[in-house]
Amino acid sequence: MYSLHRNTDDVLAIKTVNTMEAISGKHPKAKRAHAKGIRGKATFTPSPDASKWSRSTFFKPGSYEAEIRFSTSSPNPQASDLFAGIKGLAVKLGQDQKESHTLVCANAPVFVTSSAETFSKMMDSVEKLKEGKFTLSGIGKLAKEFPEAKNALQAVKGLKPSTLYEATTYYSIHVFYLLNEEGKRIPVKFEWNPTSELVETEAKEEEMGEDVLFQKLEQSVQHGKVSFELVAVIGTEEDSTIDPTVLWPETRERVVLGSLKVTSLEEDDQLLFDPNDLPSGVEASKDEILEFRTKVYRHSMEKRTAE
Ligand code: HEM
Repeated sequence: MYSLHRNTDDVLAIKTVNTMEAISGKHPKAKRAHAKGIRGKATFTPSPDASKWSRSTFFKPGSYEAEIRFSTSSPNPQASDLFAGIKGLAVKLGQDQKESHTLVCANAPVFVTSSAETFSKMMDSVEKLKEGKFTLSGIGKLAKEFPEAKNALQAVKGLKPSTLYEATTYYSIHVFYLLNEEGKRIPVKFEWNPTSELVETEAKEEEMGEDVLFQKLEQSVQHGKVSFELVAVIGTEEDSTIDPTVLWPETRERVVLGSLKVTSLEEDDQLLFDPNDLPSGVEASKDEILEFRTKVYRHSMEKRTAE
């Protein structure tokens, strides 16, 4: 059981969650980040060639049920749409099966640091600013203190809260390895690219502030129009597999592994989406932040389910 044995990383995870709470206030039962969300169900259909890249169950011919959650990064479950600059899409393929594949992605291609220790220090600095909210733009004020955050801050600056969830691209940020039947092990970054049929891709400025983004998403899902393509961006020997602050060159090969169609939406719940929950045929890289996320998310879950 996770809570019985705590090592240094667990202690850092606990400290990080405590600092996040100190910055944003406590919101009982809520996820400690991405607290405002909407759950749903989807169907994933792999591309005919997907099984050449990985021996994963989910890349073999067929179609697979998925649990999904759209979220905004605010730790406040009542956050307004105006906060929805950083959006998330979590997809768990194969709920209740022997194996599952969970992808927990956000709409920026890079992260602010490659070190868990530095992330914790960033949180400490944000807390000292006493802005009363946990935002990457808050960290922006600390750009001089943390130069490695430059790429992520640049990316976040370009995000618009008014962009619809169904019109957003979501990135794994971290690298994963695809292992195929021939023993090949290929580093990739995943992306969910929107293929939704949309009349508009943004909410009107004057509508923002209420739950208009989730309302529009619900309407689009009811019309059966929300879908995404799963793309694997193929890494080369030149590309870092452990540093989530680094953008890979745009010229990298891109392969469509499958498509995800959102079939229904429902009330938010307590389900944990763990980015290290992977099937045979997909492996995590040695990215320290990726490893750290599992410890933080489990601690967040322990707290919220005990409240
Ligand atoms: C040090 C790095 C990070 C920390 C400390 C952190 C913290 C958290 C916490 C506490 C949660 C709530 C977990 C739960 O209670 O279920 C969460 C959820 C989430 N995080 Fe992170 N996170 C980190 C990095 C990232 C990165 C790099 C991404 C994007 C690739 C990301 C995307 C998300 C998303 C989309 C959710 C919502 C998942 C859901 O719908 O349940 N996080 N994060």
